[in-house]
Amino acid sequence: MGDLASLLKESWSLVEEHQDKVAGYFYARIFLRYPDLRDLFPVQMDVQRARLLGAIVTAVQTLEDPERFDEYLRALGRDHRKFHVEPEHYEVVGGALIESMRAFAGEDWSIEYDQAWADAYAVIASKMLAGADADPNPPYWYGEVVAHERRSRDIAVFTVLPLQTLEYRAGQYLSLECPRYQPRLWRTYSPANAPRRDNTLDFHVRAVGAGWVSSALVRRMQVGDMVKLAAPMGSMTLDRRSTRDAVFVAGGTGLAPIKSLLEELTRYNRTRWVHVFFGAQTREDLYDLADLNRLAARYPWLSVVTACSDDPTFPGEQGYISDVVAKYGPWKEHDFFVSGSGRMVKATLKRLAELQVPSVRIKYDSFSD
Ligand SMILES: Cc1cc2nc3c(=O)[nH]c(=O)nc-3n(C[C@H](O)[C@H](O)[C@H](O)COP(=O)(O)OP(=O)(O)OC[C@H]3O[C@@H](n4cnc5c(N)ncnc54)[C@H](O)[C@@H]3O)c2cc1C
Ligand code: HEM
Repeated sequence: MGDLASLLKESWSLVEEHQDKVAGYFYARIFLRYPDLRDLFPVQMDVQRARLLGAIVTAVQTLEDPERFDEYLRALGRDHRKFHVEPEHYEVVGGALIESMRAFAGEDWSIEYDQAWADAYAVIASKMLAGADADPNPPYWYGEVVAHERRSRDIAVFTVLPLQTLEYRAGQYLSLECPRYQPRLWRTYSPANAPRRDNTLDFHVRAVGAGWVSSALVRRMQVGDMVKLAAPMGSMTLDRRSTRDAVFVAGGTGLAPIKSLLEELTRYNRTRWVHVFFGAQTREDLYDLADLNRLAARYPWLSVVTACSDDPTFPGEQGYISDVVAKYGPWKEHDFFVSGSGRMVKATLKRLAELQVPSVRIKYDSFSD
């Protein structure tokens, strides 16, 4: 596999500098050959926002050993059914990928490069197709928004009732599309509750900067709107066999999967101490504190520590939640669950490494792609 990996890297380096143009050409080839495929992609598709080319190049280059990533690729294939991707599309996309690199690499391109990309793409595509083929579930579920509450300027908590049962495990995430406001744009969100008998799912969403989907979910979505939900993914789940005490570290709406895990624990835990660290910039962003405090008052095994990094009069801890966790402890024997923005997760993992928490005991979800 070493040779194949170096051929892939070498050939991509010939066109990397012209990525935007390569992407433009790539999509033009696809849509020329298969005009119907245009309908699978978002309405506004300036090249920078087009994810597919970047995603494939990253996948082909990083998944040097596709066997190791078998489960990830099968899940990706299953998940692609939500885009209405059909098996015959894989060949069109693979062909366009190689043609566009060849077009921009010019004379430096070689037949070995063609072969390397064709081989690597074929292995990945076959795993994705196998995953899609074996999936007994629908490509996506429709759900109705049955509650929507603004908790702060940028944060909303809403509840969706799927029209068919959608099975998931506490701590997982799933992708969501809101066709009324942002058709064909899917983003991942984590249900904030453990599975319920009535099948409803709560979501906690923060509208980020110029975010397309999150701002629609927070500011425009209303009760009665329909959303689409795709199959759950992710492995930040509880190991029921573990007897270790647990620490949950959440930044902002990173609280969502943590709350789901907590809710699962309330159904069976009697023996494990559980510590929740919940951080945000200002107290307004600690949008679910009332509910967390209610849980802590009811379950003696649960403690909650809050921190604000940018609210000097906040009566709880001051500073980044990653630093606050480090002040407590020792944590060497605990199971850790970390969730929040890319920056927050990275800082927390760094801290935990300094505190010598073994990485096998840490599960995390980062909101960055
Ligand atoms: C596994 C996983 C689970 C997630 N769960 C949740 C959840 O439960 N609740 C939740 O609110 N979000 C969650 N997210 C983040 C969510 O998927 C979107 O990335 C987020 O809502 C932004 O989407 P958007 O379409 O609004 O922004 P985009 O249109 O994709 O991005 C617009 C701009 O905002 C920037 N940007 C994107 N994300 C952030 C960010 N987090 N902070 C600052 N700038 C950003 C981008 O770089 C870009 O410049 C999760 C992400 C992952 C990967
Ligand atoms: C080796 C093959 C492929 C790989 C590794 C791959 C990978 C990915 C990844 C990682 C994403 C981003 C994840 C997401 O938004 O959920 C993505 C998005 C997407 N993929 Fe694929 N993909 C492949 C083939 C295809 C094919 C054949 C099609 C059919 C046209 C397709 C259509 C899409 C679409 C429509 C999106 C969303 C694009 C957007 O939001 O701009 N993919 N792909």
